[in-house]
Amino acid sequence: MIARLAEAADLPAVFALRHEVFVIGQDVPEDLERDDLDVLSDHAVAIVGGEVVGTGRLLPDGTIGRMAVASSVRGQGIGAAVLGVLEEQARQRGFPAVELHAQVHALGFYDRYGYVPCSEVYLEAGIEHQSMRKELT
Ligand SMILES: CC(C)(COP(=O)(O)OP(=O)(O)OC[C@H]1O[C@@H](n2cnc3c(N)ncnc32)[C@H](O)[C@@H]1OP(=O)(O)O)[C@@H](O)C(=O)NCCC(=O)NCCS
Repeated sequence: MIARLAEAADLPAVFALRHEVFVIGQDVPEDLERDDLDVLSDHAVAIVGGEVVGTGRLLPDGTIGRMAVASSVRGQGIGAAVLGVLEEQARQRGFPAVELHAQVHALGFYDRYGYVPCSEVYLEAGIEHQSMRKELT
């Protein structure tokens, strides 16, 4: 597996994976899944056998989002590798901390990597979320 920042040529596969995971897999409306922030964000990819199987993005304000791993390859460390790339990019950009809107079912995943809840539970795209934060020091 290779995990790295995405290049422009990776983006069609990034958006296809997100469509599969969020729009098809979680019923997130397509017009919410794709937004104007994609063009402003740093994207990460995990590649196995030449295929993009994991992705996530870092927004200009230091928020991580759109973490997605293809369902057939979950539980193999791919999400963790994508998260690591995005945290390193946040450090490079000088952010002292990163935040994210965790789906409640994924709180345990982020907890493993040092994220701490910093909000109440709320609904976003019809899915329960809780904001989490990690200091990068
Ligand atoms: C959440 C997601 C990105 C995790 O990716 P993944 O590649 O399966 O995760 P990893 O294999 O890197 O997991 C790393 C560790 O976290 C654990 N973990 C993974 N998902 C978890 C969860 N939902 N709850 C608790 N622990 C979890 C793994 O067991 C593993 O622990 P280990 O190192 O002790 O074995 C993936 O499940 C996914 O794409 N889900 C659908 C989309 C989604 O909900 N995205 C999150 C939006 S906030």
